[in-house]
Amino acid sequence: MGETSNGDHRLTELMNKRWSPRGYSDREVREEQIHALLEAARWAPSANNAQPWRFVVTRKGDERFAKILDAMSDWNKRWVQHVPVLVLNLAQKEFSFKQEVNPTAQYDLGQAVFAMALKAVDLGLVAHQMSGFDHEKVLKDLDIPDGYEAVSTIAFGYLGDDSNLPDDLKESEKRERIRKPIDDLLF
Ligand SMILES: Cc1cc2nc3c(=O)[nH]c(=O)nc-3n(C[C@H](O)[C@H](O)[C@H](O)COP(=O)(O)O)c2cc1C
Repeated sequence: MGETSNGDHRLTELMNKRWSPRGYSDREVREEQIHALLEAARWAPSANNAQPWRFVVTRKGDERFAKILDAMSDWNKRWVQHVPVLVLNLAQKEFSFKQEVNPTAQYDLGQAVFAMALKAVDLGLVAHQMSGFDHEKVLKDLDIPDGYEAVSTIAFGYLGDDSNLPDDLKESEKRERIRKPIDDLLF
């Protein structure tokens, strides 16, 4: 009943190829590619079709990129500073059509973000989600209106060499990816 490594899973091609690297190339992500990622997010399913996902898309060098980077944990800063595209993922806390908390806003956002992660593979890109950042600071520094929570961020780019990474992160790029066995997921 060992954990399963990434060598022996049988998934669709996009799911098989997806992983979360930290070494990114400087190669530019084109506007059409970013549009295609957002289109994938747009078509995600959501409770009541509320589509409670919102995004702030930034590129390295932008002021807003610097603000998101500044809110990152020191651990994440070490690699996130090199990514070409960094997106902040926000959830709208209440339904827009009634003054009631949307209990699946984060869940729905997660589906939209995963759709982007798979679309990234389809476009020949890689993606890496993060929650290790100061969620309140980013809301304030980016002047996000009330009613939204900062849930996660996701990096996009081309896979690069790991030369700009510290040694422990270089090592983690090569580490075997493991998962719990299915039996452990079932009650
Ligand atoms: C919501 C969420 C938050 C994460 N936060 C971080 C993070 O702050 N820093 C980081 O380096 N990786 C982060 N990760 C990446 C996970 O560590 C990674 O997805 C997990 O180890 C599985 O590896 P895989 O994506 O290559 O399959 C996060 C992933 C998710 C989905």
